[in-house]
Amino acid sequence: MKISVSFLSCKQVLEAIRRINLTDADFIHVDFVDGKFVEGRVIPFRKLKKISKLSTKRLDVHLMTNQLKHYIPKFASLNCEYITFHVEVGKDIEKYIELIHSYGIKAGLALNPETDLEKIKPYLSMVDLILVMSVVPGYGGQSFIPETIDKLKKIKSYLKDDKDQVVLEVDGGINDQTVKELKKIPVDFIVSGSYITSSDNFQERIDSLRS
Ligand code: DX5
Ligand code: ZN
Repeated sequence: MKISVSFLSCKQVLEAIRRINLTDADFIHVDFVDGKFVEGRVIPFRKLKKISKLSTKRLDVHLMTNQLKHYIPKFASLNCEYITFHVEVGKDIEKYIELIHSYGIKAGLALNPETDLEKIKPYLSMVDLILVMSVVPGYGGQSFIPETIDKLKKIKSYLKDDKDQVVLEVDGGINDQTVKELKKIPVDFIVSGSYITSSDNFQERIDSLRS
């Protein structure tokens, strides 16, 4: 199981990045909230760009915006492994998946807690990753929504015969307790923010998620 660290709930973001660099986390999870698509903590692109330059980890970008034509090219100029956007944007989804792929970057599709998971079905053969939100997006530090587990099991069954190996990622409220059910499914990729960054020892928290 790969671990992507979110810094959305950190006050001292640059300091958090330096400390994430010292861990064996697989990716840094970059949340981009525009304040319109969802409300939440808005960190402008120029600041995220500065942050990403400090990171020694590749980026797992999570776009919470409708302005994809504008932001995909901007984020694609950074060191991205994945760029993920939300199925709730509703239109031109194939076009945006292709746009991300045109930069040689893997494309992900995210799903909010209240969204019917049938919405992602048509795109499973096109994407590299499905990001299931286990909190309402916008802020770090929220509690894991337990209904996410059933949703993940269903998605896993859709992916059973998948030869393209779509990666299943979960985001929000993940700690040493909530991770237990995720390991049983199992998911491939977890995002964890406040559980890791609220500690003096990031590596210890990462180890506890892995063990
Ligand atoms: C919520 C973000 C998450 C969040 C994760 O909008 O997408 O990435 O910051 O942080 P924790 O682990 O604190 O829920
Ligand atoms: Zn996120």
